[in-house]
This record gives sequence, C-alpha cells and structure tokens, in this order.
Amino acid sequence: MDDRAIVTENLTKKFKDLVAVDHVNFDVKKGEIFGLLGPNGAGKTTVIRMLCTLTYPTEGTASVAGYDIVKEDGKVREHIGLVSEKMIMYDRLTAYENLKFFGKLCNVPKGTLEKRIDELLRLVHMEKWAKSQIGTFSTGMKQRINVIRALLNVPEILFMDEPTLGLDPQSTSEIREFIKKLNVEDKATIVLTTHQMIEADMLCDRVGIIDRGKIVALDTPLNLKKIVAGAEKTSVDMNVPNLTNEMVGTLKGLPGIVSVVREKETHLLIRARGEDAFDKIIDSIRQSGGKIASIKSQEPSLEDVFLHITGKEMRAEVRSKVKTYEVGKHGPMQPKSRVR
Ligand SMILES: Nc1ncnc2c1ncn2[C@@H]1O[C@H](COP(=O)(O)OP(=O)(O)OP(=O)(O)O)[C@@H](O)[C@H]1O
Ligand SMILES: [Mg+2]
Repeated sequence: MDDRAIVTENLTKKFKDLVAVDHVNFDVKKGEIFGLLGPNGAGKTTVIRMLCTLTYPTEGTASVAGYDIVKEDGKVREHIGLVSEKMIMYDRLTAYENLKFFGKLCNVPKGTLEKRIDELLRLVHMEKWAKSQIGTFSTGMKQRINVIRALLNVPEILFMDEPTLGLDPQSTSEIREFIKKLNVEDKATIVLTTHQMIEADMLCDRVGIIDRGKIVALDTPLNLKKIVAGAEKTSVDMNVPNLTNEMVGTLKGLPGIVSVVREKETHLLIRARGEDAFDKIIDSIRQSGGKIASIKSQEPSLEDVFLHITGKEMRAEVRSKVKTYEVGKHGPMQPKSRVR
C-alpha cells in the first residue's frame, strides 16, 4: 500500500512570465507533519493553493489522498481541510454561526455538525465565546476559529498556511500544541507553511526549504542542521573569569575564526568555521592561561541552514547575472493581481 498522502511531480505555476512554483517534486508521507519553509514570495501559498485545488498548475501535477488535483479535484476536496493565510469569516455572525455556515458548505451531515462544532470549540478553549460575534475577537481568537473551521469535516490531510502568523506568544504556543495533538491523536497528515524556522523545527517531521519557487533542500530538521554543523559554523558562548585582551587577540588570530565578541568583561561569543574549531578555541584560551568557567556550544538552527543554502544560491545568481536579483519580483512588493 502507498504510504504517501501527497506526491507532486514537476508541479509548476507561472503567472505570466513569473515562475512562482518551479518544477517542484516532493512526497508527504501519511501521518507526517511536513513543513514548507521559505521567505516572502517563495511560492509556499501557491503550492498549497494548487494542492487544495484552488488554482491549477501550469505544468506538472500532484496527487492528494490518492486523487489527481486536476482530474479528480472534487475527490481531493472531500479529503482535505485548509487553514488559509487569510481569515475569511463573517464578522457580524457569531463564532458558532460561522462554523455552522462553513460546515454546511462542506456537506457535514446535519446530525453530526453541531456536536462537532461543540467539540472543536472546546478543543481550542473557545466554548465561552461561541455566541459572540467574530468581529469582536482578537487576532488569536479569530485564528482559533479559522483553524477549527478547517476541521469540521474531519479531514485526512490538513493544509495550514502560516497558522501562527501575527499571533502573540501564548496563542502561538497553544496553536502549535493543537497542531501536534491533531497529528498525534487524530493521525492527521499536516502540511504547514511558515517563515519561522523555530516553528518548523518544533513541529515538522520533514521540512522542504523553498526559495524562488524551487525546493532547495528537503529532509528532517536534524539532517538539515547537519548540513551546516561542524563543517560550516560553530557558535560558542564562553565565560572566562580571568579574560584578558591578549586572549581575545590570540583568538581573533586563529584560522577559521569568523568573529569574536566580548560581551561582558568575562564573556565571549565566538563564531568559527571548520570541524575542529571548537577544540582550537578551548586550546587557545587554556594555553594563554585562561580559566573557562562555562562553555556552551550553540547548535546550528534551521535559520543557519536556510542562510547557508539560499545565501549560496543568491551569490551564484549575482555572479552569473549581475544585478538581476530583484527582491520585488519575488517578495511582498510585487502586487498580486489574482490570475487563476
Ligand atoms: N494570483 C497571482 N497572480 C500573480 N502573481 C501571483 C499570484 N499569486 C502569487 N503570485 C506571485 O507568486 C510568487 C509566490 O507567491 P506566494 O504567495 O506563493 O509566496 P509565499 O511563499 O506564500 O509568500 P508569503 O511568505 O509572503 O506568504 C510571488 O512573487 C507572488 O507575487
Ligand atoms: Mg504565503
């Protein structure tokens, strides 16, 4: 049996001469939380919109829950839920009325709809607000309703486009916990997009890094971090109570050192390249008579991976095309005239 919930084959979307999504190939396994990570304008929402059958690919295709997104779009829609980037709800209606309306739109049987709404409102701690108008809600409250709206038909595959965008830290962490719970307890396959490396790191089993329409890396967060670990960068936070300017000078002269910042009298933040950078730093301090009270090696983050991968690409492009890198072409400055 195929254990893949989603398979894309050269999935491509062009808007006139802009290639928003460029021959993208990836699989999402059943039961997985898969993250699409990338900067503004990278093509994340466009991938999601194609997989949710809201827009057709220009080239290539994909299957979702075993159905072709173009030839069997109706079937695809029966198996998915979408938490869209934009919260489209009726401000004058109450939370309950909004949910009832959207439940009817997705053909949730009448007998089960009300029970499902009550259950979902409780899950996101919004039962007290069921009879209040959406227009009176804070962003975090609205987003909770927006998220459960996508769950009314108990979807097998849930797409979430930036589920924590604009939320305060508490709502963010509650929504993240809720996503994890849906995945673990309800066995939902989840595809989420985010700009936030930390979110991808916390939630996702695998992450696809997308940049200018192309998947530039795809793996588990751990394996992605290994790309930059050791060989590329070490970050060390060190407390040396008898620190001297001479020690700092010697450190700065070591091969592979990128930067040495003396934060307090006794504190150093050191960035270095090379596999043995960590050992060299410690040896140097000790040889100059320094006593190390504490040392913390900071793990590379997905942020480092992203900079490592896309930074290289950008430099290559600048070298080959000179000045053809236009932020506006791919970024938020580009007006989005909605073409289907
Ligand atoms: N309907 C459209 N018509 C024309 N261009 C579009 C349309 N939708 C998206 N684009 C363009 O395609 C590119 C990718 O946009 P998309 O919204 O998929 O990016 P994103 O990664 O979701 O970005 P963000 O992080 O800002 O949400 C952008 O350059 C955008 O301007
Ligand atoms: Mg987007």
